Amino acid sequence: MTTSQQQGERRNRREPGERRGRRAWDRCARLAGLTAVPGQIDRFYLTPEHRAANDLTARWMKESGLHTWLDEAGNVHGSTGQRDSRRPRLLIGSHLDTVPDAGRFDGIAGVMAGIEVAGGEWAANFPFDVEVIGFGDEEGTRFGTALLGSRAVAGTWDDRWWGLEDENGISLDRAFAEFGLDPERVGDASYAAKNVVGYLEVHIEQGPSLDRARIPLGVVSSIASARRFEIEIIGEPRHSGGTPFDERHDALLGAAEAVLAVERFSIEHSVIGTVGRMEVEPGAVNVIPGRAVFSVDLRAHHDHQRDDIIEQFRELVTEVADRRGLRATMKQLHEAPAVYCADRLKEAVRAGIADVQDETPPELFSPAGHDAMAIDAITEVGMIFMRNPDGISHHPAEYVSPDDLGAGIAALAHAVQSLA
Ligand code: GLV
Ligand code: MN
Ligand code: MN
Repeated sequence: MTTSQQQGERRNRREPGERRGRRAWDRCARLAGLTAVPGQIDRFYLTPEHRAANDLTARWMKESGLHTWLDEAGNVHGSTGQRDSRRPRLLIGSHLDTVPDAGRFDGIAGVMAGIEVAGGEWAANFPFDVEVIGFGDEEGTRFGTALLGSRAVAGTWDDRWWGLEDENGISLDRAFAEFGLDPERVGDASYAAKNVVGYLEVHIEQGPSLDRARIPLGVVSSIASARRFEIEIIGEPRHSGGTPFDERHDALLGAAEAVLAVERFSIEHSVIGTVGRMEVEPGAVNVIPGRAVFSVDLRAHHDHQRDDIIEQFRELVTEVADRRGLRATMKQLHEAPAVYCADRLKEAVRAGIADVQDETPPELFSPAGHDAMAIDAITEVGMIFMRNPDGISHHPAEYVSPDDLGAGIAALAHAVQSLA
């Protein structure tokens, strides 16, 4: 076959993906309207917006001919088989929740792509059920701990999470009840004992490599190891004018030293460290800060890199607190080990991508977290990344073109067919 014939064949194979890419893209735009704050996208776990997103997603799943249900952790499922099917099941998933003031595609595009694949003409006669899951919490925005939806499915739920509270003091167990879920039954969402043959996820790249290389799709090699902490520093709130420097116990200055150390240690140890949130009390211009609370988010290729800097950071915080007469506590909110995509699924994904794009897909490390990290506890995982202009994400300008989304859908469909 000549090169131009091969390219022509590839075009033919891409075509159903292109139609489906446009529809999935339009659905991401529809879901963007389901938000707690009009004019931006804020959709958090177990909120009325989450319910509305589940309902609309379930409607689209049904229209595609899938059987649908809501599980005991608030995740929405759509499958070629019934919930109680005894056939093996191949899972495709991503999340429907967002960060504050988010873009339209992080997570959402993967769920919409999954519906196109499970509900497509190509899904007929597979030796397994193809099941799409729209997970309710990947970002951890509402309760601080991430991947709650996918961890329920993986059977790695931790009962200590029930007492976590959102910013309004609503505990996770109360949020379950208000959503109509029974906390006692969260274990029923678990697939740990089921016959799961693998998990695939399509996601926008949240960095610029594909865009810079001008390549639509890439194969994910591994997902970063992560830990998140909340650090609280207590000092003494006193008059900003009358208190001499040698009598001050300024919580914010202690926090500032610690925040700069997060950057310094991270650069020294090839870790990605970020302080994204800080609250200072009492928060008055003429009062020395008496309390500062801030987050630390750490990611690395391998677990030991991330863990090494935590010890170093803990020592630094203790030293700063002693020197400044402060009290400091450090609470871990989230931990996930590095996850390596399975060779057989990377091969399937690579074959799927080769069917729709001329360029050899690069292997990409994901510094961003994904539901695949949690599902790795029960089955092997594989991921496809789609090009995102400038790599901007967790921002309203986040983007994937309908064509690239269509390519992602076609590649995922071919990957699933190759596994079948
Ligand atoms: C989720 O997008 C994360 O990487 O935190
Ligand atoms: Mn995200
Ligand atoms: Mn995501």
